[in-house]
Amino acid sequence: MWTFHLPTKIHFGLNAAASISELPEICGRRVVIVTDSVVRSVSEIQQLIEKTAPSAVFDKVRPNPTVANVDELTRLLRENNAETVLAIGGGSSMDTAKAAANLAVTTDASIRAYHSEGKTFSQKPIPVVTIPTTAGTGSEVTPIAVLDDEEKIFKSPMSSPSFYPVCAVVDPALTFSLPIHVTAATVLDALSHAIEGYWSKQHQPICDTLAKEAARIIFAHLPEVYDNPKSAAGRKALSYAALTAGIAFHLPKNAMIHACSFPLSNRLHLSHGAACAFTMEEAIRFNAPAMNGRMEEFAKFCGFDEIETMIQTIAFLKRRGGLPCTLQEAGIDSSLTETLIRESFHPLMNNNPRPVTEEDLRKIYTKLEAR
Ligand SMILES: NC(=O)c1ccc[n+]([C@@H]2O[C@H](COP(=O)([O-])OP(=O)(O)OC[C@H]3O[C@@H](n4cnc5c(N)ncnc54)[C@H](O)[C@@H]3O)[C@@H](O)[C@H]2O)c1
Ligand SMILES: [Fe+2]
Repeated sequence: MWTFHLPTKIHFGLNAAASISELPEICGRRVVIVTDSVVRSVSEIQQLIEKTAPSAVFDKVRPNPTVANVDELTRLLRENNAETVLAIGGGSSMDTAKAAANLAVTTDASIRAYHSEGKTFSQKPIPVVTIPTTAGTGSEVTPIAVLDDEEKIFKSPMSSPSFYPVCAVVDPALTFSLPIHVTAATVLDALSHAIEGYWSKQHQPICDTLAKEAARIIFAHLPEVYDNPKSAAGRKALSYAALTAGIAFHLPKNAMIHACSFPLSNRLHLSHGAACAFTMEEAIRFNAPAMNGRMEEFAKFCGFDEIETMIQTIAFLKRRGGLPCTLQEAGIDSSLTETLIRESFHPLMNNNPRPVTEEDLRKIYTKLEAR
């Protein structure tokens, strides 16, 4: 028994964002744009913002966005009577936009009430349009926002059916300006979505198919984009893979890789993608024996003769993209591993195909000490 649902309209293609102002969700409406200062400084994006003639631009989103980010944006949306929220950026901007678009229609002042204090959304939000500028999170189509509550030292995804964007405009040309290490981290985040959506206890056939296809495309095209960051074919493939990986995990949900990533990014400030990539090879070695041959099938579909070859390729893609592969490279003192282990037991861990104990994670972190 499974259910598949995706209400977000998707426009995909090189230069698809050029006609954004003609979309019914944008045209003639009071639009507030949500982005970050780095993305705003990219000349193609500056032009895009001007074309949209927004009521206001909020460019204070920070990587791993915070409860405070969302609360500040919410005040701006209310002041401007926003009719559409247009997120242009990576997962951080899109997540901030989705959360604030939902909070703005309530009488609450802070998203904390919903992020960690149990309230649920019941009203129709301000419609959100997403334009991803990274090929990674899939947030352009997911009903999820990951927020960091700095006061509580609590980073966690929140999810609501009302978080689905009404429309996603995926324009791979907007990813040409990404530096290699951000490309590596974000694309490996997409790979982690493909793997986790596939091995989640709640996996289902449509998502399985998309997950395998997304991973196959990533293995085929990431090396090409490392060699030539402006490869239109390569960037197009990676944006498509990130989008489909987002669709692949949004219903089955993530598992141990993401559960372990939260303390790595929350406490130690690794980027989300680097944090997911950090335990990826060991998580595959750990889960594969409990998956009744499904991981072998995944590796073969991606063109590998066996799982271990796929794992070695992931290690190569991490190194080539400048991502940390050991505790030392990540700047993590081994005295911190017990804290990391303790804080990895997020509810997503219950989705893992194989039960995980503290001792299992201890063994994984010991392997990550040096290679
Ligand atoms: N909602 C979801 O479904 C979902 C899924 C996975 C991750 N996330 C969350 O998304 C966030 C990470 O998003 P992300 O990985 O896309 O990174 P991000 O949005 O934090 O961006 C990473 C960096 O890249 C820069 N950048 C983005 N686009 C650029 C471009 N075109 N050119 C140059 N620089 C650019 C940004 O300014 C930033 O410094 C995390 O908080 C993570 O937890 C959300
Ligand atoms: Fe992720």
